[in-house]
Amino acid sequence: MGCQFDQFIDRRNTQSQKWDGVLEMFGEENLIPMWIADMDFRPPQEVVEAVTKRAAHGIYGYVCRPKDYVDVIRKWLRERHGWEIEPEWLTHSPGVVPGLALAIWSLTEPGDKIVIQPPVYPPFARVITINDREKVENPLIFKDGRFTMDFEDLEKHFQAGAKVLMLCSPHNPVGRVWDEGELKQLQDLVVKYDVTVLSDEIWADLVLPGFRHRPVASISEEMSQRTLTFMAPSKTFNIAGLYISNIIIPNAELREKFCGQLQRLNLTHINLFGMVASDAAYRCGADWLDQLLDYLTDNVEYVCQELPRITDKIKVVRSEGTYVLWLDCRGLGLPAEELNQFFIDEAGIVFNDGLAFGESGRGYQRMNIGCPRSIIKEALTRLAKALK
Ligand SMILES: Cc1ncc(COP(=O)(O)O)c(C=O)c1O
Repeated sequence: MGCQFDQFIDRRNTQSQKWDGVLEMFGEENLIPMWIADMDFRPPQEVVEAVTKRAAHGIYGYVCRPKDYVDVIRKWLRERHGWEIEPEWLTHSPGVVPGLALAIWSLTEPGDKIVIQPPVYPPFARVITINDREKVENPLIFKDGRFTMDFEDLEKHFQAGAKVLMLCSPHNPVGRVWDEGELKQLQDLVVKYDVTVLSDEIWADLVLPGFRHRPVASISEEMSQRTLTFMAPSKTFNIAGLYISNIIIPNAELREKFCGQLQRLNLTHINLFGMVASDAAYRCGADWLDQLLDYLTDNVEYVCQELPRITDKIKVVRSEGTYVLWLDCRGLGLPAEELNQFFIDEAGIVFNDGLAFGESGRGYQRMNIGCPRSIIKEALTRLAKALK
């Protein structure tokens, strides 16, 4: 039997933003969509079955959590991340980005400074500025072949009054899984300046062999008391369209403020199919996830080996987690503003444009490798032709 992840599943005409959205946006067929971060894989079979069974029941009224759902999440966090949480710390929102926005609303005032670490997932900047807060940039630095945090610069921002840090851990798009040393250094600054951390850990489960994700709140009691952790089954099990996320807030005062905002907006209800899928995924999806991680590891290896054979003008930043690869395309010598269209016009591939991740993404593109290897092979073949 072939590997389940090798199977090509046609996603066209399924309301898929990744596939159908491309057709709408560029009016072209046959572009390979390697942009928005979902995968071209089915979730674990148990998830498909649970959703199908619930759909067949035919009544889709208001929803409550399964009695032991909290225990399922606690077990997952304990076993996969060595993090022990209390049941009352857990709440939900319809997606991680809405959760970040709710946290901004409930914990900060218009004009407050919020630090981000670009190049970073574009909604971080957007959700700050659109809500009239001030975005403060603490760009990552590239050192010894990998991106790291600039702690000196970060301290200056805290000294200048920034009271909130939006952390991306693991980091999209550079693929870093922050190690314990880095998180401890971060902790020292956070505690010294009494900063609140909005830690987006949506990629927590997608860590490649040899690396370990540490929830920043699990580093110490002091860090736990200052951190809101945003997690979700969406990236892990490829169910982003079902809009459910898990938010963990150990500090009672912060939790009350956050939940108060949820209540003011009447966002305390949970989507039925999100709940059903999430429950089945965390209960039954561990083996599937391990197989997925092996497959993604091989995809990363494949690109890291094959791309240099095609060109020395595009350099892959080796990822430690996520299923996106950060490509340094500066060697192509094209204006950064034209890069994304170049890949569309010349190679028929849609990447995410590096500039969307901040000025420090200039000259980069983000490639989604959460797809069967045959798609990556086809993309690299097209790329080779385009660069001839
Ligand atoms: C770092 C990060 N946070 C949040 C999201 C999206 O979260 P949601 O769809 O739950 O709002 C993504 C999706 O790519 C992401 O990379």
